[in-house]
Amino acid sequence: MRNDIEQILITEEQIRTKVRELADLLQEEYADKNPLFVGVLKGVVPFFADMIRAFNGPCEIDFMWISSYSGANSTGKMLVRQDVTRDIKGRHVVILEDIFDTGNSLEFTVSHLLAKKPASLKICTFLDKPERRRPGVTVKADYVGYTIPNAFVVGYGLDYNEKYRNLPFVGILKPEVYEK
Ligand code: IMP
Ligand code: MG
Repeated sequence: MRNDIEQILITEEQIRTKVRELADLLQEEYADKNPLFVGVLKGVVPFFADMIRAFNGPCEIDFMWISSYSGANSTGKMLVRQDVTRDIKGRHVVILEDIFDTGNSLEFTVSHLLAKKPASLKICTFLDKPERRRPGVTVKADYVGYTIPNAFVVGYGLDYNEKYRNLPFVGILKPEVYEK
């Protein structure tokens, strides 16, 4: 699997350092708020597990699973495959995401959760690829781990055709892997 990686973009050590930094920031803001961390499946799983263990204080967790409609008419429309299981009304909610790319999924997730009237809603994303943002997306991330160039990356939860999610670092795939 590692042979398919052209370049490691973010090492395991850099991941650890960044998780600590982000968790410290969240702690400053949420220490006494019992935040509800909502993970967007599936790519967020490693980041989510790291973040909640680095967060020192009471918190609760939940998950959302969304996907885009597939088929000829796919125009970035999203659907909820699994909704949060808790009533989030009046709660301080923090969305945890693996990557902020076009922004379609975060835009959808934010409006879906805002409709449930949380006390507050913020976004913490491990990666941000601002060059890829769809014009018109107004959602902003409140906490960003690493801003990366416009390359397709895998590992630390991110996949190519469902593979490579278990790599402990973030890397760029060799072009021949796509061409196979
Ligand atoms: P969006 O384009 O911001 O809606 O991101 C949608 C989803 O696309 C992300 O949650 C990831 O699952 C996936 N994605 C975006 N960029 C990459 C990438 O570079 N590698 C792997 N998955 C990606
Ligand atoms: Mg994702």
